[in-house]
Amino acid sequence: MIIDGREVDARGTLLETVLALGIDLPHLCKDDNLPPIGACRTCLVEADGRIVAACHTPADGIQEVRTTSERVLEIRRAILRLTAGMHGPVQDRAGGPRSSEIWAAYESHGIDWPSHPWRVRTGLDTSSPFFVFDEQPCILCGRCVAACQQLQHIGAIGIAWTATAAQVTAGTGVPFAASACTACGSCVAACPTYALRPKLSTGTPAGGRRPDGT
Ligand code: FES
Repeated sequence: MIIDGREVDARGTLLETVLALGIDLPHLCKDDNLPPIGACRTCLVEADGRIVAACHTPADGIQEVRTTSERVLEIRRAILRLTAGMHGPVQDRAGGPRSSEIWAAYESHGIDWPSHPWRVRTGLDTSSPFFVFDEQPCILCGRCVAACQQLQHIGAIGIAWTATAAQVTAGTGVPFAASACTACGSCVAACPTYALRPKLSTGTPAGGRRPDGT
């Protein structure tokens, strides 16, 4: 297989083969330890002329992959702009670091942050002694849910409601501390946007509130 002009052996999925080459391809909903979810579409590549999600496309049988063609870059930028419309600049407001996966994707794709409108969501759960769930940066990728259910077999987290009402919830909509959550930290480790973050981090809203008072 040829990837961006380099000849390589196919291994597993296109994403695995691309990442093994050291290519920095976003994959916001794909956890290294879990099967693909296929929700975010940030891993799109051009494979034999078709635009496909690299995380769940088998590498076997593909002849040529382009990760930086103008066509696929334009599509990935459009997807990231849409994602930014959910995410919002809460990390700036909360003083958190720009070290999460989503920020790396914005920066590598030249997304004009924060020039795009975003949907304001104010849910903030500080009930766990160890972490915070801040709804604004959540992009509903599902990685926290998969980590809780498939890695830890706890099932404390789910995604409730649909469309613009969709949100990550603990239990049946209770605070994390009142759910089956054991504060194992798997969801925090899986989160690509810093929506779930440790309380000791600099992005923790003081006293359960963001600097803007919400
Ligand atoms: Fe492939 Fe999200 S990482 S669709």
